[in-house]
Amino acid sequence: MVKHHDFKRCEQSGFCTRNRALADSVSTKGGPESSPYRLDATSVKFKNGQLDAFITKTLADNDAVKLPLTISFLERGNVRVTIDEEKRRKGEIELRHGSVARKERYNEAGVWALTGAGLQSQKTATFKRVSDNIVEVSWGPDNGFKAIIQHAPFRIEFWSGDEKQVVFNGQGFMNIEHWRPKIDKPVAADENNTEVDSAEPAEDQSTWWEENFGGNTDSKPRGPESVAMDITFAGYGHVYGLAEHTGPLSLKETRGGDGNFDQPYRMYNSDIFEYELDSPMTLYGSIPFMQAHRKGSTVGVFWLNAAETWVDIVKTKHGANPLTLGLSGGVVDTHTHWMSESGLLDVFVMLGPTPKDVAKSYGELTGYTQLPATFAIAYHQCRWNYVSDEDVKDVDRKFDKFNIPYDVIWLDIEYTDDKQYFTWDPLTFPDPISMEKQLDETERKLVVIIDPHIKNKDGYVVGQELKSKGLAVKNKENNIFEGWCWPGSSYWIDTLNPAARAWWKGLFSFDKFKGTMSNVWLWNDMNEPSVFNGPEITMPRDNIHHGNWEQRDVHNLYGMTFHNATYQGLLERKKGEVRRPFVLTRSFYAGSQRTAAMWTGDNQASWSHLAASLPMVLNQGVSGFPFGGADVGGFFGNPSKELQTRWYQAGAFYPFFRGHAHIDTRRREPYMLGEPYTTIMTKALRLRYALLPAWYTAFHEASTDGYPIIRSQYFMHPEDEKGYAIDDQFYLGSTGLLVKPVTAEGAESVDIYLSDEEKYFDYFDYTIYSGGSKTHKVDAPLDRIPILMQGGHVIPRKDRPRKSSGLMKWDPYTLVVVLNKKGEAEGTLYVDDGETFDYQQGAYIHRRFTLSDGVLKSIDIGTKGSKTASYLKSMTDVKVEKVIVVNAPNDWSATNEVTVAEGDKGTSTADLTFHAASGHKAAWAVVRSPGVCIGSAWSITFPRISSQKIDL
Ligand code: NOJ
Repeated sequence: MVKHHDFKRCEQSGFCTRNRALADSVSTKGGPESSPYRLDATSVKFKNGQLDAFITKTLADNDAVKLPLTISFLERGNVRVTIDEEKRRKGEIELRHGSVARKERYNEAGVWALTGAGLQSQKTATFKRVSDNIVEVSWGPDNGFKAIIQHAPFRIEFWSGDEKQVVFNGQGFMNIEHWRPKIDKPVAADENNTEVDSAEPAEDQSTWWEENFGGNTDSKPRGPESVAMDITFAGYGHVYGLAEHTGPLSLKETRGGDGNFDQPYRMYNSDIFEYELDSPMTLYGSIPFMQAHRKGSTVGVFWLNAAETWVDIVKTKHGANPLTLGLSGGVVDTHTHWMSESGLLDVFVMLGPTPKDVAKSYGELTGYTQLPATFAIAYHQCRWNYVSDEDVKDVDRKFDKFNIPYDVIWLDIEYTDDKQYFTWDPLTFPDPISMEKQLDETERKLVVIIDPHIKNKDGYVVGQELKSKGLAVKNKENNIFEGWCWPGSSYWIDTLNPAARAWWKGLFSFDKFKGTMSNVWLWNDMNEPSVFNGPEITMPRDNIHHGNWEQRDVHNLYGMTFHNATYQGLLERKKGEVRRPFVLTRSFYAGSQRTAAMWTGDNQASWSHLAASLPMVLNQGVSGFPFGGADVGGFFGNPSKELQTRWYQAGAFYPFFRGHAHIDTRRREPYMLGEPYTTIMTKALRLRYALLPAWYTAFHEASTDGYPIIRSQYFMHPEDEKGYAIDDQFYLGSTGLLVKPVTAEGAESVDIYLSDEEKYFDYFDYTIYSGGSKTHKVDAPLDRIPILMQGGHVIPRKDRPRKSSGLMKWDPYTLVVVLNKKGEAEGTLYVDDGETFDYQQGAYIHRRFTLSDGVLKSIDIGTKGSKTASYLKSMTDVKVEKVIVVNAPNDWSATNEVTVAEGDKGTSTADLTFHAASGHKAAWAVVRSPGVCIGSAWSITFPRISSQKIDL
């Protein structure tokens, strides 16, 4: 059970309580018109797509606070609104307790989260004064977007065409807690010990200057400084994103009521032991990005703030027929209320209009998913712990003995000498190199864990260097911060410090991290950071980082700075050997997708956790960090054989696929279970390996367009309202493969919802399912993963079972062509060396396959670079060994031959075998050994139109 008392609820957080109270009072009393924020009309300047002005906040005593405002109207139709506070910006404030903290509001979240792309203002944006109280800016494609900026009270509406989409401060919840000196007025205490001012009721200041929780006191040297704003999605009934939480993909309301949460979604990266399901509690990572979706339109909001953040969600319905219940028949608005403890108010709005547009815009701003090395998307075998190098070798041999593929074996914290990272336990891992060499024989890899806490122990070189070089996080007194984690007394590297990062980078070189070879990669855990004796199991908020920023300012991005530094360390461990690093991180922030993969932390071996993993992993995709997965089998506890088997079947469709288990659990490598389970799990693993070309292509799309790797129903069928809340089935990339993993004990079938009118075919036996907008029962005995193929796709596979993905590199391809109702199909394939960055110089193959008018063609869609020709040459022996056409037309039964044309090689023939439809199963045909290269232009002409001339 999660320890609720270790983590704050909103009412235990000063700024959350204050902002919710403000929202309540505005809603019940003053209304939005009472908002004290007003744009100073005389201050407005507009130039080159950017508006600068001041907002004033009028205080009770009629004093005013000056808040600089910048609105940048960006290319691609995004917009950025930034609000600062002049006094803090100029440093005209006094810090309490002699703190060394910076006086400004934290303004560097963008340095970590943004790539710098997409920030160019659109020079052609136009500005117009509509009235004394309103100015309007048009921008975006054909200047079709419009921001209507109201001065008093300050409010912005973002419109696309003639539809209002997003409104800032429409409800009047905006709140910038300005700096004020602490005035120690004489107070009389009533019997409840609350402060009472004798003259007039004072604001409750009990959490302004100090805040206590769980026996810890936060000294808050800058006083109250939260920023908050309501953001309304006009006409939108569904919002998604805000990773990482355990609830459904379509986010719930948070202000109580039937089936709703009564707490806002919280984002404050934390090590939550035994986390609970269906909860708005925070988890290990935070991405303050939300998408709202409705028929015809998708918009996004990115709240660029790395401090603790809470988000309330309330949906209201208007214009409904009072006689009809439910959400249909009226317009639903989703009102969100964002509250952060400190920092700037800095928000991006993306006006879509499609889920793909929003994903691409967010990816452009924060970066796209790294293109991983091929092994990283294959299967990973982990547990806490493989206990010795002999143990690792033994597990490795057993996988081979049972013919089970895997690519990576992992070492958890016990491999180290007394939890001193960059060392090996001399008794249990006396010879790591021989272990790594054995793995390398089958192109396998080793991942070892290294956490950000560094043991405080005399004689431990890494710890001593960290200390002597002054590279650790400091406490509020500006001395090195000491806390408790796995090694006992520890220090934390401050990876916000460039000098710390440079030092960290050096630790990974092969001559420093002795016992590692080039097939060793990294796992960064506990980087929230987890501090066992800290408030909420993390660091005190008044700890000090490089640049004198407080931990409270950077809390949610600290973990990312750490895994980024590790990534840098792995890029080139030996001069000249540059390869794509693999780093797994537990903590993350917006931008983590550029350098790491993530997993959902310490789940449990239960059916409910298996089910919960699907919306969680899908939400990672919505939140722009799609390379994720959950511990397969469940971390805590021992799964039943059936549960474990079903989990492998689901895990085979997580972008990151790793079995992991707690130190107290029984061994559960797939070969341990016995029959029929071992065989069934092996089948699931082989399926993952066979589909690696499709996975890699999906990763490539994520790396260039920001699309999720596994895609939810609303993403794929944005016009179908019935699919908006579905989060237990998904598509793999653009392949048309629709998967619904079994997550219920004893299930014999699942119901799959089909949106469109296209035909779908069972992946294994080609049973036809047709009829959109309804659910279909699909058989799912234990040895069957429910997978359908949507008509109209070409799915690339490699069908030869091997020990690891590395050994499949030169294997031939199988193309599965699934014809749609028109007898057509298309698909893509992306291939490169799966290891280096040569693809950035054109060393890759990118093909589009199309089948229409009975001709299957392979078309080049890549761009040439300096390394294209040599790469293509190296791939000339990699061929297509088989083409399977599902839903093949009957007239193909008339012959047993196809015509093959490739480049300037002329034409040849290949065998065609036709299998007639039977019962509910579609007809299919197989072309064997067409002999064409995967990297060249070719065509295969099927019988019906074999006389037609083909133009390649
Ligand atoms: C916590 C991680 O979440 C878990 O996966 C790992 O096994 C333990 N730390 C020990 O390192």
